[in-house]
Amino acid sequence: MKGKAGRSIAAIGDVRAAVLRFCGEQLSRRLDTKPVEDVHQKVSACVQQVDPTMTPYIFGSTVVLGVHEQGSDVDFVCLSPADVQDGKGADAVSEVAKGLQSGFLFRLSEVVKREHYLWDIELVRRTRVPVLRVKGGLGVDGVSFDVTANRRNGVRNSALLRAYFTQCPEARWLSMLVKQWSKKTGLNASVDGGCITSYGWNIMVVYYLLRRKLVKLVPVESCDVANIAPMPPYMPLETPQQDGQALAVMLMDFVSYYLDEFTPETEVMSLTRAAGETTKEMLSWTKQAEDMARIRGERIHYRWCIEDPYEFDLNVGRNVTPFKLMLLRKHLERAQETALLLLA
Ligand code: GTP
Ligand code: MG
Ligand code: MG
Repeated sequence: MKGKAGRSIAAIGDVRAAVLRFCGEQLSRRLDTKPVEDVHQKVSACVQQVDPTMTPYIFGSTVVLGVHEQGSDVDFVCLSPADVQDGKGADAVSEVAKGLQSGFLFRLSEVVKREHYLWDIELVRRTRVPVLRVKGGLGVDGVSFDVTANRRNGVRNSALLRAYFTQCPEARWLSMLVKQWSKKTGLNASVDGGCITSYGWNIMVVYYLLRRKLVKLVPVESCDVANIAPMPPYMPLETPQQDGQALAVMLMDFVSYYLDEFTPETEVMSLTRAAGETTKEMLSWTKQAEDMARIRGERIHYRWCIEDPYEFDLNVGRNVTPFKLMLLRKHLERAQETALLLLA
């Protein structure tokens, strides 16, 4: 079949069969969150030794999807009782706050080294958010994880994405399909040269669902850490309904939405306001802002704009350069032919 501009489009029957194969493969694997719970317990025991008032919360894919995919990292953040009580508070971004977070993570790294000398750990202080990275090896049952401190936004944004994905049974599958494709194509920031994190891809999936009115807007203020469990429950996945028909249609429609309907020149993917209402102009995400950032020594682009729902003035698509945007389009065109490479 041919689409706009004479591009080939995969036949929906083939897409349906491929999607069912993908889901079947996933369902044949272990997806429960027991390995995450085990790591959570070990991390909690170490945190207890550093500061017994701090609690490690899990966020990221384990929370968003409610499953643990093999090969996905686990994201932890240690929160104080004050952080939890003020569960809608903005995260501090000052150098002082960063210093305090680094200090806690350093003490934690010392305990972890003592208790688990086989774990491969690295304390990274130079990033926007200080983080303790632990690479999965024999010692941690192959599970890799990151630990940060005193930052609620990850817990809030993961709860927000989960609240969307639980509204529509196909949504979690779509998120998994898109994430897998973004990693295969090298567009995912976890791959060298990649530009959009899995988190960014998830916001894109939700924004698409909102534009199509397949889910209802969840007010961002409704996510309050005080009401969120440190380790949210496992949500088993189910075989897609109607033999994968609805999911296949959704997948192809997702690709064509970002190829032919979304207007990156003016529009911002945002979960903060009603879908379609946020423009680059409103946020002053302009060429001039790019130039100003360059003068400050930062490289920020406003070519593919994804507004972070909780961080002020943060484009989750900031690493999409004009060249990467062209690459993204090429991969989307190919995705239309191959159903996100499922038929490649
Ligand atoms: P995988 O680890 O690839 O399976 O996916 P994931 O769903 O865990 O996503 P990812 O590791 O990309 O993100 C986990 C958390 O990190 C998110 O909930 C965010 O809080 C944070 N994060 C990731 N990327 C960004 C980003 O570009 N900007 C901001 N502000 N936070 C991010
Ligand atoms: Mg993750
Ligand atoms: Mg991570």
